[in-house]
Amino acid sequence: MSEIRTGLGWDVHRLAAGRPLVLGGVTAPFEFGLEGHSDADVLTHAITDAVLGAAALGDIGMHFPDSDPQWKACDSLVFLRRAVELAAEQGYRIVNVDSTVVLERPKLKDFRDAIRERLAEALGVEKDRVSVKFKTAEKMGPVGEGRSAEAQAVVTLQKLGTGPWHNAPGPTSS
Ligand code: C5P
Ligand code: MG
Repeated sequence: MSEIRTGLGWDVHRLAAGRPLVLGGVTAPFEFGLEGHSDADVLTHAITDAVLGAAALGDIGMHFPDSDPQWKACDSLVFLRRAVELAAEQGYRIVNVDSTVVLERPKLKDFRDAIRERLAEALGVEKDRVSVKFKTAEKMGPVGEGRSAEAQAVVTLQKLGTGPWHNAPGPTSS
């Protein structure tokens, strides 16, 4: 028997000149990048929150407050690895991750494989368990106007050997 848990993550960061565009640990060449205390990797932040959410371990700001100078300009994969470690301490392993980055420009599909590889390595799973999708916002709103980027993620965790039904009485024979 194994317990299955689902977690949801969402994040948004502004785009600004003079910043690198880091998504899933991969830097995509572009005239603008994401603004934030860490490397502002919006995709990795959403996935980190989804991992924490599935294990009910709070959120990214609770574990890595942006008031803490140790996280300044930090590689966000550090946050993701730590979240996976915290979930593992509760007995959870990653089943799969699905995610969407919403960014008007540049086209990101050529970076998909590199991003999946980096994320899979940080998550400690095979690449085929990590999905990354890209969407524009059809020129609408702050994302569509090229002022920000958003990311959404869903993570499924599995806890082996436990579950609310684990100790439940089995079917009774009459
Ligand atoms: O947003 P839209 O539906 O027009 O996106 C069409 C396709 O373009 C997506 O499915 C994705 O493959 C690609 N895309 C991309 N990089 C973006 C946005 C979309 O590669 N920043
Ligand atoms: Mg963030």
